Amino acid sequence: MEDRVSGYSGQGRASGHPARAPAVAIRPAIREDLDALMALEAAAFATDRAERRAIRHAIGSPSISLLVALDEAVLVGAATIERRRGSRHARLSSIAVAPSRAGTGLGRVLLQAAEAEALARGCDSLRLEVREDNGAGIRLYERSGYRRFETVPDYYEDGTTAWRYEKALGTGEGG
Ligand SMILES: CC(C)(COP(=O)(O)OP(=O)(O)OC[C@H]1O[C@@H](n2cnc3c(N)ncnc32)[C@H](O)[C@@H]1OP(=O)(O)O)[C@@H](O)C(=O)NCCC(=O)NCCS
Repeated sequence: MEDRVSGYSGQGRASGHPARAPAVAIRPAIREDLDALMALEAAAFATDRAERRAIRHAIGSPSISLLVALDEAVLVGAATIERRRGSRHARLSSIAVAPSRAGTGLGRVLLQAAEAEALARGCDSLRLEVREDNGAGIRLYERSGYRRFETVPDYYEDGTTAWRYEKALGTGEGG
C-alpha cells in the first residue's frame, strides 16, 4: 500500500465513517503531480488560489509537506502542512478535494493524514484558517475536534473574514 510506505497506515481511513471512507493512497507530492495539483486548485478554489510557482516550491521545501490523495492514478485531493523553525504549531495552509469526490469523506481522510504528518514532524498542534462562509470546511474542522480561537477580518483577497482553528495533536481527542 502506498500510504503504508509513506507512513500513514491506519490514518488513511475516516474512523467515524468506516462504511463510506474512500480507499485512497496518500503520499508526498512529487514534481510530476504539478499539473494535476494546478487543476485541483482551479477546481476547488474560487479565490486565493496558489500559484504554480508556490506549489512547485512546496513540493521541494523541507519545511512544507504537500500530501496528495490518489484513487488509482488519479489525484483526487491534497493537503499542505507548513512548519516554522522553533514552533510546535504546524499550519494547514490548504486542503482540497476534487469536486467530483466532495462529501465522500475524503476531506476527513486528508485531514487525518495532515495531522499525522504534523505529529511525525514533531509538532503538537495544527492550526488553520477558513473562510467564515465555508460551510463544508467549518463542519469538517469542528467535527474533527478543532477549536476556533481567532477571527481575522479582511483576510482573504475578496475581503472575507477568516476563522482560525487549532487542534492539539496526539491527545486522542477529535477525529
Ligand atoms: C472542505 C473540503 C476539503 C471538505 O472535503 P470533503 O471530502 O467534502 O469532506 P468530507 O466528505 O470528509 O466531510 C466532512 C464533513 O463536512 C461535511 N460536508 C461536506 N461537504 C459539505 C457541504 N457542501 N456542506 C456542508 N457540509 C459538508 C460532511 O457532511 C462531513 O460532516 P459529517 O462528518 O458531520 O458528516 C472540500 O469541500 C473542499 O475541497 N472544498 C474546497 C476547498 C476548500 O474550501 N478547502 C478548505 C479551506 S482551505
